[in-house]
Amino acid sequence: MTPLRGLVRVPGDKSIAHRACLLAALGSGRSEIRGLSGGGDNTSTLRCLMALGVGVEPRGVDGRSVAIDGVGLRGLRAPVEPLDCGNSGTTMRLLIGILAGQTGGQGDGLSFVLTGDDSLRRRPMNRVAKPMRLLGARIELPQGDHPPVVVTPGPLVGVRCETGVASAQVKSALLLAGLQAHGRTVVSEPVPTRDHTERMLRGLGVAVEVSDGEIALIGCEALPAADWDVPGDPSSAAFFVAAALLVPGSRVELPDVCVNPRRTGFLTALGLMGARVELRDVRLQGGEPVGTIVAEYGPLRGLALDPARVPSLIDELPLLALLAATAEGETTISGAAELAVKESDRIVATAELLRQAGAEVEIRPDGWHLGGGLRPRGGFVAACHHDHRIAMCAAILSLACAERIAPDNPEAIAVSFPDFTRALARLSGPTGARAPGA
Ligand code: S3P
Repeated sequence: MTPLRGLVRVPGDKSIAHRACLLAALGSGRSEIRGLSGGGDNTSTLRCLMALGVGVEPRGVDGRSVAIDGVGLRGLRAPVEPLDCGNSGTTMRLLIGILAGQTGGQGDGLSFVLTGDDSLRRRPMNRVAKPMRLLGARIELPQGDHPPVVVTPGPLVGVRCETGVASAQVKSALLLAGLQAHGRTVVSEPVPTRDHTERMLRGLGVAVEVSDGEIALIGCEALPAADWDVPGDPSSAAFFVAAALLVPGSRVELPDVCVNPRRTGFLTALGLMGARVELRDVRLQGGEPVGTIVAEYGPLRGLALDPARVPSLIDELPLLALLAATAEGETTISGAAELAVKESDRIVATAELLRQAGAEVEIRPDGWHLGGGLRPRGGFVAACHHDHRIAMCAAILSLACAERIAPDNPEAIAVSFPDFTRALARLSGPTGARAPGA
């Protein structure tokens, strides 16, 4: 095993970048967004915005910055074809919230159709459609709970509504609809989820009130344009943290990462497992806490994860399970039924990967029970179910094996982190000989 040592700059946070692009599109005037992830998901958002009549101009040479000419809060145009959200649930769900109130003088009979790739067309959309209808939104799901989604815009009215599930996407859709509604919208969520939408709206001058699991705002007429510097994605950084914890002799430093407490549940859980992980130089940037994560190899012990923490590490749970499988002692992860409706059924996909490597894993409807003590064996092709995070998990697990684990479709990784394989190879030394997926 080659130790991983050095510094990695991870791509911009996907969640924040989606929101920055969407809010810029609704703004009055030109906004610049720097530090896009460069991945397929953010590109899906930009492609949809262009189809909706928004001017998007690439800036700089790295393809990570764009200028967006906002069309105003209700000024999106009818696209010629269905909006293709690709693999991106965030694009689709947030757009549903935005499109429902687009009454920008385009006459009757206007509707928007949203669709996506095979994975997205299997994902639940009633969770957004149902509470949105309380605001007066007209949303149809002709094929049941899944896309395509048909949104017929009309006037919205502010109401009190519940997300029902712990989902920042659903919450954000409701807040973005509430922004266009007449009067006050109050959204309550069962457990706090990532609050980028709330922070960013505040940054734009919208009075967003938060108390006791409720978020309230009053509809408005216009949003200003604004420039955004997107911090590094903690969900991408998590793979390098895991790599450092797995491979003896490793030490990895990840600067300029978003360390919003609603996103750092992975680091907190690792702390409880005895990991040597530290946060340094934490400061506020564009309303988000940003800092440097330092992770160093060391022994881990199993844990019983508090289900209340799940939303703060929802995207990192497969990685946490991977590390827990190798830890000393047993681990239980529960309260994570949502994982079954991500880009793949991540409960099953993670268990399959770990079992193939020799781990003792019990699948539960809301998580796993892991035996611990795994000395992983590689030498197999991992089924990644076209899921970027499962493909990256396979690559990380491979680092701890004598024989390589090859993700069956490493190209899925480009959805969030196109440069992942190269970045990992760079950390393992000049030859990059153990670059998984290479
Ligand atoms: C996201 C919220 C989470 C997360 C997803 C991005 C967001 O999804 O899994 O990767 O940007 O709001 P849910 O809202 O479905 O939990």
